[in-house]
Amino acid sequence: MKPLTVTTTSATYPVVVESGALASLPDRLQALGLRGALWLVCDGAVAELYGAPLAERLRAAGHTVHTFSVPPGDASKSPAQLGELHTWMIAGGIERRDAVLALGGGVVGDLAGFAAATILRGVAVIQLPTTLLSMVDAAVGGKTGINHPLGKNLIGAFHQPRLVLADTDTLASLPPRALREGWAEVIKHGVIRDAELFEDLEHLANERGWSAQSPGGLWDAADAGLTAQLSDLIRRAVAVKVEVVSIDEFERGERITLNYGHTVGHAVEQLSRYGLLHGESVAVGMHAEAGIARLMDMCDGDLAGRQAALIHAYGLETKLPAYDIDAILALAMRDKKVQAKKIRWVLPTAIGSVLVRDDVPEELLRRALQA
Ligand code: GLY
Repeated sequence: MKPLTVTTTSATYPVVVESGALASLPDRLQALGLRGALWLVCDGAVAELYGAPLAERLRAAGHTVHTFSVPPGDASKSPAQLGELHTWMIAGGIERRDAVLALGGGVVGDLAGFAAATILRGVAVIQLPTTLLSMVDAAVGGKTGINHPLGKNLIGAFHQPRLVLADTDTLASLPPRALREGWAEVIKHGVIRDAELFEDLEHLANERGWSAQSPGGLWDAADAGLTAQLSDLIRRAVAVKVEVVSIDEFERGERITLNYGHTVGHAVEQLSRYGLLHGESVAVGMHAEAGIARLMDMCDGDLAGRQAALIHAYGLETKLPAYDIDAILALAMRDKKVQAKKIRWVLPTAIGSVLVRDDVPEELLRRALQA
């Protein structure tokens, strides 16, 4: 299958989304002319399952491979963990022509990507996402970074990868809750830019009888028809991300649309003290933000209903937890998209199209969140 291609002012690179993609890594490194040592950073949860066999395969192809396992969880996106990676690389003799491989979810992608961006003023990074969330979002587009005690993702850099290789077979080992949260970003990509993707997500759910009562969207390696359909939907959702970052690498315009559902979503995620997963919070956030668009007369009532039905069909909730609306609004005001003290909301006008608005009255926001 022809890879997708990100084309920005700073880099052009392939994004491969297919079954068995990891096996092609040695050939792809050769095609990219990457012959130096490889610094494989793995999420601890997948180090044995995918990291060890991958290191073996790369060594068999003649590469020197160093491996490092990072404890799973967001706490690893810390200055201390970054320092450990730097020490490992410097003590091991990293050179400019080497490459860092980031194998795992968004935590490893962001951390190892930032280590690659900063060591020796920048070495190549290859993103090898193994979660649905990171395949569809974090691994593509070059955002790298770590958390600061005062907030998430506050220290970072844009550092585009040389290659993104998403092996959909790795989704078979992902826990159901982690797989389900990834569908929130797939649905989001349909709402913001690809009505056909949204409709095909609906068709699959209808065909399979998925609903709030009997949700689906889980990987079943024994069902080749299903995995092929899910892989196609995932690839198309990745294509949306590829398009958006190719238009707007540094989030000066179009890229902000990827934040649909994230203004309320991030607030809810923080208020839950991260008890809600990122994708779960985005699902709730999309529902709330579609409600804001409805009250702003930007879309018809059907949009929020269809979106909610789809979110439920893929095993996610839309109901806003009983948080204080003042607390949600206070956190929304600290959102990265706030400009001149105004929240820039990404709001749908139809399935497949959104607008950015900074003129939503507070009273309307309160009504939407209450509803
Ligand atoms: N995760 C949103 C972005 O990459 O811009």
